[in-house]
Amino acid sequence: MNGANIGLADELCHASIEALNRALANANILLIKTKKAHWDVMGPEFVSLHELWDRQYETLSEYVDSIAERVRMLGGIPIGTARGFLEASELTETPGYVDTATEAVAGLLEDHETIVRMQRRAIEVVSADAGTMDLLTQMLRGHEKMAWMLRASLQGEALRTNGRTAMRASPPLA
Ligand SMILES: [Fe+2]
Repeated sequence: MNGANIGLADELCHASIEALNRALANANILLIKTKKAHWDVMGPEFVSLHELWDRQYETLSEYVDSIAERVRMLGGIPIGTARGFLEASELTETPGYVDTATEAVAGLLEDHETIVRMQRRAIEVVSADAGTMDLLTQMLRGHEKMAWMLRASLQGEALRTNGRTAMRASPPLA
């Protein structure tokens, strides 16, 4: 199919290209949403969230490039239009609305979790293509970490709302 003799049947290449293009679309939409949050954020967490989202944007940019280049390695054509990314992505946008910091954290957390669930399924589909599986697995770990950072920030918010300042380990440490 792509002229490369790398031990992958055409059918498997097609499955990998499809999974990668979906991952590419999701990463691109999340990239845009993350940068928007970086611009719009206001409030006492401004500096930490502004900087966190800049770092997450950089990570997502690297993912986008790695995914698209792997599509080419397998003989496919990466989606490369804004319309194409929107059509192929599972993530939704909220045009005309500026999120509060908490809403933006919750929304991006949901998007990372959506991608983690999607990539977990995709990894099973491409399990015979070690290269694609490895790339999707690395990104899955990255999205899990980014989700954790956002979730921890929301959980901190809940603690403050409850007027608590100390966190207790659960179960309590001896
Ligand atoms: Fe910036």
